[in-house]
Amino acid sequence: MNDRIRITDVAPRDGLQNEAARIPTEDKARLVRALLASGVDEVEVSSFVSPKWIPQLGDAAELFAMIAPDSAKRRQVVLSTLVPNEKGAQAAIEVNQAAARVHGLDRLIAKLSVFTAASETFSKRNTNATIAEAIERFVPVASIAREHGLRLRGYVSCAIRCPFEGDIKASKVVDVAAKLLEIGCDEIDFGDTIGAGTPETVGALCEVVRTELGDDLLRDPERCTLHLHDTFGHATACAVEAARLGVRSFDSAAGGLGGCPYASTPERRAPGNVATDALTTALRDAGYTINIDDAGLAEASTIAREIVAGARPTGDAS
Ligand code: HMG
Ligand code: MG
Repeated sequence: MNDRIRITDVAPRDGLQNEAARIPTEDKARLVRALLASGVDEVEVSSFVSPKWIPQLGDAAELFAMIAPDSAKRRQVVLSTLVPNEKGAQAAIEVNQAAARVHGLDRLIAKLSVFTAASETFSKRNTNATIAEAIERFVPVASIAREHGLRLRGYVSCAIRCPFEGDIKASKVVDVAAKLLEIGCDEIDFGDTIGAGTPETVGALCEVVRTELGDDLLRDPERCTLHLHDTFGHATACAVEAARLGVRSFDSAAGGLGGCPYASTPERRAPGNVATDALTTALRDAGYTINIDDAGLAEASTIAREIVAGARPTGDAS
């Protein structure tokens, strides 16, 4: 049995995107550097999306330029970024071209990640497009990725439940995933956006993925990933069940950053993405192998918490 688990740390992107106060780019760079040193397989560094929609990540190009020398020393760690459309993909390519000129790096960003949902309402709210329109926008992104030798991840959000539409059928989730594969995504990332999953519902989704998209895809860490939020404290149990069923790639965030705005109240921010250290511990306890250096990860988690605490007004209950 292949018991090695691949980890993508999404703290710099998913963990920070909803922070209201501006976090200095240098602080984000400190976090990415610590993650590069921690032994995670991939870091989702930022997003090339509209800064009107996600102001916090409007410094994506500056951040990539800042960490390029560090990435040059850690070429085995994949750096990825979200892009919602061709404009975002072009911006990522420009970053790579600059890194090639300045640092001789053939590929600073090695993966682009497009994102849609299995819920029409969520898709509209998140990207001002229906699911079909969003996927249409990804077609030129897929061409750009292919032309430049970049991998393409396709997220399917609301893979378990939508904050607006309620429970989502697994058949709808795999339909969207199949369309993403059709237009050229190499990898599908199933997002439990609001952390509604339980081992039963996540397990059921894995079984439908296996039946409809194939056991090979489910088990391949380069082709299938699970993205769990820990809103209700079920994420590590869900991960262990998914791993039992064959999943070998997970997303998580150092320091458990995130805190889905749809699940937060004015008094309390919801717990965020599953914390990388909690995920690592749970999966190791279940017998899987994760090549992360615990001390390095602890350092990254401390930085993650510090930069968020520093940006929040005193008295924030989250
Ligand atoms: P729109 O307003 O419909 O797009 O937004 P538009 O094409 O009409 O453009 C509007 C403005 O945005 C224009 O500027 C464009 O140039 C600009 P203006 O003329 O008004 O000055 N623009 C861009 N700027 C920079 N980079 C770009 C870009 N594209 C357009 N790439 C759009 C459509 C998709 C752009 C917008 O809705 C958007 O950026 N949404 C981002 C939403 C987002 O990032 N959400 C969070 C990530 S998803 C997530 O967190 C879930 C996940 O974690 C998995 C899970 O948990 O399930 C991944
Ligand atoms: Mg997320």
